Amino acid sequence: MTYPIYLIGYMGAGKTTVGRLLADKLGWHFVDLDEAFHEIHGSSPADYIRTYGIEAFRRKEKYVVEDLAELPIEKVVYATGGGYPCWEDNMECLKELGTSFYLRWDPHHLAERLALTDLSERPLLHGKDAHEILEVILPQLEARAPYYEQADYIIDAPTADDGSIDISTDEQIAELLYKTIINDDD
Ligand code: S3P
Repeated sequence: MTYPIYLIGYMGAGKTTVGRLLADKLGWHFVDLDEAFHEIHGSSPADYIRTYGIEAFRRKEKYVVEDLAELPIEKVVYATGGGYPCWEDNMECLKELGTSFYLRWDPHHLAERLALTDLSERPLLHGKDAHEILEVILPQLEARAPYYEQADYIIDAPTADDGSIDISTDEQIAELLYKTIINDDD
């Protein structure tokens, strides 16, 4: 397996939480690429999109990922922005730069999770309940899936026997990723 590790997936998939937990387990660095964007450009992705539009954001986001990849540090877990893999040749870039993991969720569960988070930084979803969120994300997830599914590994979020999700799911996903990475190194 080549490093660094890139976590990809839709908003609410837990890329940041899982990435932090995974980096801790591995003793590696963790970089949230939305936060890196904020630090480099002085504006959060949401504010940048509001001011300059999505195209300008995607262009800058691409440079942030590629510039950071130039750093001579391999043992890094990156959490990418949810739309990053679905722009131009970004998925091919990720595959050249390191190993990608798609955190795949059932859209209903994603909508439930998103409804429980602070949506003020997610303008498209702000003020919506789980049902309305689902209506927004279903078509977008369908359009994005062919990109996400090009990841080197697809990790399906585990659900309980009754089909529900709980807060320890992120920890379980991090453990699954950790085992995959460690076993590959044996
Ligand atoms: C986006 C997801 C966000 C952020 C930006 C655009 C998207 O990242 O990059 O607001 O298009 O799905 P998260 O997936 O980390 O929320």
